[in-house]
Amino acid sequence: MWLLLYIFYVCISFKSIISIGLDKLNVPPEHVTYVFNAFPSLAKACLAEPKCIYKELTGLKRCWGYERECNRDDSYPVRPVCPGDHRGWVKTKEAQYDTFYTQADFGYVKEQIDDLMVMCEATFPDDTSLECSKYLRFCRGRNMMLNFTGLVGRGDNLRYKMDILGPGQIGGFCNFYSERLMKEAEHMSALQSWSPELVHFVKTPKKPIADGMCDVVINKPTYIMKLDATVNMYHHFCDFFNLYASLHVNSTHPSTFSKDNHILIWETFTYDSAFKDTFKAFTDNPIWDLKTFRGKVVCFKNVVLPLLPRMIFGLYYNTPLIYGCERSGLFHAFSKHIIHSLNIKLHPRNNDKVRVTLLSRGTTYRSILNEKAIIDALSKVEGYEVKRVVYDKTVPFLKQMEITHNTDVFVGMHGAGLTHLLFLPDWAAVFEV
Ligand SMILES: *[C@@H]1O[C@H](CO)[C@@H](O)[C@H](O)[C@H]1NC(C)=O
Ligand SMILES: *[C@@H]1O[C@H](CO)[C@@H](O)[C@H](O)[C@H]1NC(C)=O
Repeated sequence: MWLLLYIFYVCISFKSIISIGLDKLNVPPEHVTYVFNAFPSLAKACLAEPKCIYKELTGLKRCWGYERECNRDDSYPVRPVCPGDHRGWVKTKEAQYDTFYTQADFGYVKEQIDDLMVMCEATFPDDTSLECSKYLRFCRGRNMMLNFTGLVGRGDNLRYKMDILGPGQIGGFCNFYSERLMKEAEHMSALQSWSPELVHFVKTPKKPIADGMCDVVINKPTYIMKLDATVNMYHHFCDFFNLYASLHVNSTHPSTFSKDNHILIWETFTYDSAFKDTFKAFTDNPIWDLKTFRGKVVCFKNVVLPLLPRMIFGLYYNTPLIYGCERSGLFHAFSKHIIHSLNIKLHPRNNDKVRVTLLSRGTTYRSILNEKAIIDALSKVEGYEVKRVVYDKTVPFLKQMEITHNTDVFVGMHGAGLTHLLFLPDWAAVFEV
């Protein structure tokens, strides 16, 4: 009887993993093997499910690169190469590779994971908990209370503000190591860390959710984001890139890449951006801003404060990189993830011409003066199929990505538009003017 019940239970839980799992995993097929390795329950579910098409991807020892037991040979196959000289920077070739891997590849994720510290410790499951990495760059919490009553009467133009929360307006019921937290609160700037918010953390006298402290309880995992400039692709993709890296830092659950969550933007402006479709790679739900909760005390069952776009030595704004290395699996994975999630198609080719795309800036400055002559000359070359594009409002962003993704040689003037190179196919080349 118990055995039967047990089998029944196991079947149900496999089934629910299948239903929340494989079809809603939200990872490209080439990433499934890493997810299976990280979450054996998903691999088992796949083996048990006749319709699962990823059976041959189970049982392989592949890892992203940040997992505790992950050999370099088994890690994500796009890895740095360091042909350049290392002397004057580090002692050995190995150190050069390792430094670059930590600065710009999955080592960046590993560093955050290794740095995680418990700031507020739960004793019981319905207690609060808070964990953060060094300098409060990434945090995750459970059963946390955020009090937005102070926003009443402050208008709709709050952005890059460090005083959204005041003393005691964030907290929870847990064993709070306040000295430990304050010691990390050094990077006191809106887009560098979560210090401006977390210095106000307090231990509450009651359990936020269990004792009904809140006007609103959010059950789905919620990512709170402080955005950089949303008008500029280079800057806004720094937000998306760090959100993606943060999914990896928080990857303790098979639903890591799932879109069944919420995103709350830490400003009172209504979010809008020419690049807004990119959020659809991360969430199925509408984007919230602080107006959603103005005047309310809100409890979050699961909340992530992701890595920020302007962290000191963060990625990829102003990142000082060690000399002599190139290529990054983390950037490659980000590209594949976005392209898969947004369903950007790679078209089969119908001839063997090299597809050259020249990105023309529709602006007064930094335009290529002899652009027409260049296009004409390139078009005369037999093996080229040349296309001049202006990525402005008349071309929807997903269409822009599709054009870029179906390009072999991408030519453009130095500027934020070249951020599109993230979505070129693996074999493409970039010509920066
Ligand atoms: C929320 O903050 C307000 C001050 O803005 C305070 O009066 C109220 O007691 C706080 N609520 C909770 C649950 O802490
Ligand atoms: C982050 O990881 C925790 C497990 O530590 C998980 O419960 C939670 O759902 C994740 N948060 C988000 C926002 O995905």
